[in-house]
Amino acid sequence: AWRLGDFAEETINKVRETVGSSRVICGLSGGVDSAVVAALLYRAIGPQLSCILVDNGLLRKDEAAAVIDEFSRHFKTDLHVVRAEDEFLNVLAGVSDPQEKRRRIGKTFIDCFKAEALKIDDARFLAQGTLYPDVIESGAAVDGPADTIKLHHNVGGLPAELGFELIEPLRDLFKDEVRQLGLQLGLPPEIVWRHPFPGPGLAVRCLGEVTREKLAVLREADAIVVGEIQAEGLYRATSQSFAVLLPVQSVGVMGDSRTYENTVAVRSVNTDDFMTADWSHLPHELLSRISTRIINEVQGVNRVVYDISSKPPATIEWE
Ligand code: XMP
Repeated sequence: AWRLGDFAEETINKVRETVGSSRVICGLSGGVDSAVVAALLYRAIGPQLSCILVDNGLLRKDEAAAVIDEFSRHFKTDLHVVRAEDEFLNVLAGVSDPQEKRRRIGKTFIDCFKAEALKIDDARFLAQGTLYPDVIESGAAVDGPADTIKLHHNVGGLPAELGFELIEPLRDLFKDEVRQLGLQLGLPPEIVWRHPFPGPGLAVRCLGEVTREKLAVLREADAIVVGEIQAEGLYRATSQSFAVLLPVQSVGVMGDSRTYENTVAVRSVNTDDFMTADWSHLPHELLSRISTRIINEVQGVNRVVYDISSKPPATIEWE
């Protein structure tokens, strides 16, 4: 812990030196990395920090609200929230190819972020939550197979395009160190221990075409999966747990009538590095509760399946 104690102080000093009296923009995603960067910068330069949250309508249940609450109430940063749900849903309409979905989401994100960033006068720096594994991966496989399996869209192209200078205070840290740092900086445990969430969000867990209605179904099912795993005390013992909405209808029976509705897949994995992963061996009673609750409480779902594939050959996300 003493190592991180020094780390926070040294990094704060370094940021102050680099930034001087300029303004820094930091993108918030709902994830732990960007939250820790923002908290660190807030400590370092306070009112010179502006945060941008692009609410793409693809976040988990209550996620945007939690981040907004934290960063407007607790940290009191200059927070810009871009409400872009309609924009994202429009560009996703009619698109079911996974790579095309990712491409469109990435482009729309950059457009939204850029438009907001350009409204912030005198901004000179852009802060990003790049971690040590990201540094290794991007250096090792720029055009390699890792990049061609799935297009990853974080804010990679932004600094160059906007003419900002880049600040990456977490470049030397691993994820568990970032979490410790977040706790040290006073971030709440709900944000610090949140499972990683992909940039394209629920869009890659809503297989096929993404619609507002499907997202609403997925969000409720996902909240049940996460809530039940938390209630069982197993959330931190799993690396990522979530729901996936499949474009598959099947026949069921509810009361006296036939149903023909959607399928939800539950995905939970354990992994150290997210390059390989095993499915979580969750207790059957827990899976049973998750299934019963989803079918009873989420309208439009009559079947729940558990994904027992490991990575490789499957990936963690379904798209
Ligand atoms: P896969 O599905 O490739 O995912 O086994 C490995 C890890 O990466 C996350 N992931 C992403 N993260 N942007 C991100 O920031 C993305 O486009 C993206 N795609 C997948 C995934 O959630 C898992 O943790």
